[in-house]
Amino acid sequence: MTQLEKVYRTELLYPLLFHRALNPRRMALALTAQGLATPNFDEPFAYMEMGFGQGLSLVMLAAANPHAQFYGVDLIADHVAYTEGLAKAAGLTNLHVRQQDFLSLVPSDWPAMDVIAAHGVWSWVGPQPRAAVRQFVDAALKPGGLFFVSYNVRTGWAAMVPFRDALKRAFHNGIGDAETRLKNAVVQMRTLESTQALYFRANPTVSVRLKQIEGETPGYVAHEYLNDEWCLFDVAEVATELAAIGLSYGGSTHLQDNVNDLTVRAEAIALFNAEPSLIGRETLRDVFQNKQFRRDVYVRGPRPLSAPELAILHAQMRFAAFMTPEQLDHVELKTEIASAKLNGPIHKAFVAALQAAPLTLGEVMAHPSLAAMNPNAAFGTAFLLCALGALVPATRHQALPTVDRVNAELDRRQTKAARANALVGGGWA
Ligand SMILES: C[S@@+](CC[C@H](N)C(=O)[O-])C[C@H]1O[C@@H](n2cnc3c(N)ncnc32)[C@H](O)[C@@H]1O
Repeated sequence: MTQLEKVYRTELLYPLLFHRALNPRRMALALTAQGLATPNFDEPFAYMEMGFGQGLSLVMLAAANPHAQFYGVDLIADHVAYTEGLAKAAGLTNLHVRQQDFLSLVPSDWPAMDVIAAHGVWSWVGPQPRAAVRQFVDAALKPGGLFFVSYNVRTGWAAMVPFRDALKRAFHNGIGDAETRLKNAVVQMRTLESTQALYFRANPTVSVRLKQIEGETPGYVAHEYLNDEWCLFDVAEVATELAAIGLSYGGSTHLQDNVNDLTVRAEAIALFNAEPSLIGRETLRDVFQNKQFRRDVYVRGPRPLSAPELAILHAQMRFAAFMTPEQLDHVELKTEIASAKLNGPIHKAFVAALQAAPLTLGEVMAHPSLAAMNPNAAFGTAFLLCALGALVPATRHQALPTVDRVNAELDRRQTKAARANALVGGGWA
């Protein structure tokens, strides 16, 4: 085992996943909902993912945005090889990845970035790699650029600390290959739970998690629970660390988490509104929801827009429908503490207007059934429908040869991964 393998699990590959939170247009949506300016992703842009796993998000985003350049670094040679292989087979010329430790990054080797993303990284590496990522972001992110970071939140995970320690110990004490040791470690946790240990009884969420772990792939469980580092954060800690390099909180890409009606109960709203700071209110939201995972976007030098500027920006945003109006009857927008139906006449008219092709918000509002809507209400409706997954913030392309080639290669490899989509990058939304 190398020194690196001791601190980061490298023997089990991270699963092949596309994360819609990594779509830069979703980040832009979160930001403009807070009234802030965003880079224009219809223009050429540079996007970097730090710690990209098997690179599916990068590959799909690169395929759907041929006018942009995508970059990535990852520690694990097999991750890099998989990503490079997929990109090469699909003939992508705008994806550039390297096997490299964050600790050895030299900013002058890379162009200035409009977006840097670290998904599934912050909680699973130690203070040194985190500091290296921050230094890189400080050096490479353009003014007005976005930094996406996701991490495990202390509020919702604190009870799991003894469980993860026990699981990791059982894994390390086990014999056999990594997958066998992991399987046996999970069985040991189930045995421990069956002893009626008071810890499990006092923390019922631990049993819920154990059940989830039993249904997960070994790669996911290894990368979530078995690294040396497993750091839980409050939003205030992350915001403070990032403020030191000039970044400000710009919103959650888990869009419903920005919505007060869905994250703050009526009896708590006075307390929430009395909290003077933005980050203080986000901290309260995490408490209200017992939040486990945050997917946040930060901005270098936030630029608040005037109401007319915002209206112009919103009118230019393009949306595509991923549901029919009828499907709205069967789904709910959910958070940890609330849910909402979005199947009123306006919601249905909105989704109906987009059935034939993606449209900008300005074009949707010109539709006779929606012409009476004011721009703010129209953006609010589009935002909620995006949170639901009925709409997505979309590119200008409905089909692209690069996307077709990625899908052909995924088919050839018979992966279970979602297929690329020219409108959004990948997955269903
Ligand atoms: C949990 S995975 C997340 C992968 C991907 N971002 C996603 O969300 O699907 C974390 C990734 O970070 C990489 N990583 C961890 N420590 C690193 C380091 N010091 N330098 C570069 N990459 C690192 C790992 O190899 C792994 O692929």
